[in-house]
Amino acid sequence: MITADLKGVYPFVEENEIFGSRCGAAEKAHRLLESGSGEGGEYTGWFRLPSRIGSDELSEIEDEGKRIASDSEVLLVIGVGGSYLGSKALVDMLYHENGTSGTNIVYAGNGLSSRRIVQLKEYLADKDFSINIISKSGGTLEPAISLRIFYDLLTEKYGTGRADARITATTDARHGNLLNMAKERGWKRFVIPADVGGRYGALTAAGLLPCAAAGADIRAIIKGAKNASEAYALKSADNPVWQYAASRRALYDKGFTTELLCIWEPQMRWFGEWWKQLFGESEGKCGRGIFPASLEMTADLHSMGQYIQQGPRNIMETMLSVCSGPDVIVPAGKAGKDGFDFLEGQFLCQIAEKTLRAVTDAHVSGGVPVIGIKSDAMKFEGAGELIYFFELACGISSYMDCINPFNQPGVEEYKKNMFRLLGKPGF
Ligand code: PA5
Repeated sequence: MITADLKGVYPFVEENEIFGSRCGAAEKAHRLLESGSGEGGEYTGWFRLPSRIGSDELSEIEDEGKRIASDSEVLLVIGVGGSYLGSKALVDMLYHENGTSGTNIVYAGNGLSSRRIVQLKEYLADKDFSINIISKSGGTLEPAISLRIFYDLLTEKYGTGRADARITATTDARHGNLLNMAKERGWKRFVIPADVGGRYGALTAAGLLPCAAAGADIRAIIKGAKNASEAYALKSADNPVWQYAASRRALYDKGFTTELLCIWEPQMRWFGEWWKQLFGESEGKCGRGIFPASLEMTADLHSMGQYIQQGPRNIMETMLSVCSGPDVIVPAGKAGKDGFDFLEGQFLCQIAEKTLRAVTDAHVSGGVPVIGIKSDAMKFEGAGELIYFFELACGISSYMDCINPFNQPGVEEYKKNMFRLLGKPGF
């Protein structure tokens, strides 16, 4: 179970400012999500997704993951925004840099760097690979360009028929160019449900197939999310989701307009990127919204620590720590006198825990409120639980601020300019 620690919040807002009237607002927001009757309610399918996703669908995803793991050294996941961040967050969180237990997962279609495309083509040239193209709309520029390029590479390598058997399309069930292409070419297909928006899709096939190909236990991920959906259905101030959502809303109203998610495990850096999109795209509307940024501890203390301690006082922090994994003991300093003999024989996890405490105290006394979130994220169930925790928190927090968390009207503006400059018919 995830816990929220609000000790670092109370010097800035009274307990009753969080749990007084805001409890009622959190409950109202929670019920709107539950009933799907709030603004954008047609996109609240993620709310029940962990119980809705069936065993047959999971088996299909597992089978395709096994197919990929058996015939591909690399799975090239092509997608952008919500169509890749969920899987990148999960795969990185579950597997360290020495690789997955299945296929190696790499990403394309999330930018317009020709250098990156050339590097990827060189990397894939002598490798067996498959492609998972993920796009709910089936009409997004960056993944469409990458699919063209890597489809050519795949067909050069395997010939058209065999190449088509190595492509999986994850898209809407009824609409879009990608769906049409997949049908025409006979690509294996998975569905992003119509009632689940891109950034809430980590627990659909969009997030799960790359995880399965990497060797992850996707049933355990879903089990963790299901447990979370049951545990955090609680309508009371004891719900850690409410505690988190109500605290950040209370702090925002006091002028803390930026939230730093501080990740205490390097493998979770991409979880921070996923979280930034989830909250940024959901809440940043109508001239309002907490600006989400993320840091990796302790590395970023040595680059951003000064700003946090003494810069403008509009920052709040959420310290995301996970239960410890394998531990390491600090050995004797055999290379010479480095000045750290006092640490000899200590466990690194304890040193990290004390450092987290020291950082929290220093930042709180420097005027930065700190919310502590502790989870079991780096195991399969814990990862599913953490994804669901923040999705629910984001929905509740947005509705508490009367914001529709499920649209993104602002992102269309640059697209109009871009398509006009690029000569797209009709622009
Ligand atoms: O959250 C969102 O809706 C966006 O980030 C989309 O996921 C992103 O723009 C990609 O869209 P699509 O999956 O339609 O290609």
